[in-house]
Amino acid sequence: MSKYKIVMVRHGESEWNKLNLFCGWYDANLSDIGKEEAVSAGQALKKENYKFDIAHTSVLTRAQKTLEAILKETGQTDLPVEKSWRLNERHYGGLTGLNKAETAAKYGEEQVKIWRRSFDVPPPPMEENHPYYDKIVKDPRYAKEPKLEEFPMFESLKLTIQRTLPYWNNVIVPQIKEGKQILIAAHGNSLRGIVKHLDGLSDEAIMGLNLPTGIPFVYELDADLKPVVSMKFLGDPETVKKAMEAVAAQGKAK
Ligand code: 3PG
Repeated sequence: MSKYKIVMVRHGESEWNKLNLFCGWYDANLSDIGKEEAVSAGQALKKENYKFDIAHTSVLTRAQKTLEAILKETGQTDLPVEKSWRLNERHYGGLTGLNKAETAAKYGEEQVKIWRRSFDVPPPPMEENHPYYDKIVKDPRYAKEPKLEEFPMFESLKLTIQRTLPYWNNVIVPQIKEGKQILIAAHGNSLRGIVKHLDGLSDEAIMGLNLPTGIPFVYELDADLKPVVSMKFLGDPETVKKAMEAVAAQGKAK
């Protein structure tokens, strides 16, 4: 018997998704297609008559713009929104800015799959001489947090989950239990971490999950927050399947 529902959505295609670059904490904007995906996501939620009480997103533009577009479509532009670095995409470290296909050609597709989808193998660290080090580390949005000692220079999915789960447990879960209808607009890997936690997926099983951009999915949870319905996408199954396969294929050598 489901007691709660929560809606999650990965941001629409970003400019760096379009260029097939490892993005992570680089603050890429939405591509034109990504903007359209965000509007379509809002239209799909409107069609299902979703009305939210609060939304959560990361401090990155691509997720925030996706959320804005959705709330414009659902007529909730005044909805309270909480933003946290803890919902950011996983930090891709030294891979940030590299082309995924070229990286697969150089290091092998298997190695890129491990970097993208394994549970506890991190990418190489972002060194101080990395072209995007200053742009990310000195970004004023991080002035207060994360603290310097917890500022990531690389993240495996395990490390991403370690900083996302406190937000899930301490901020989102209490709101779910208060009966709030919640929307989370975040990123492929921060959402993979939440999904792994909710469904109790093994480290192996999570390797197979690729989340499409801009297609909302719903979890229905029982009183103990155990999924009664897992990852029900608001899109036609064939479209969702093809979109997931396209995300997986980004790591193929061209
Ligand atoms: C990125 O950060 O490059 C993407 O948003 C997610 O990348 P991935 O699908 O390669 O993990």
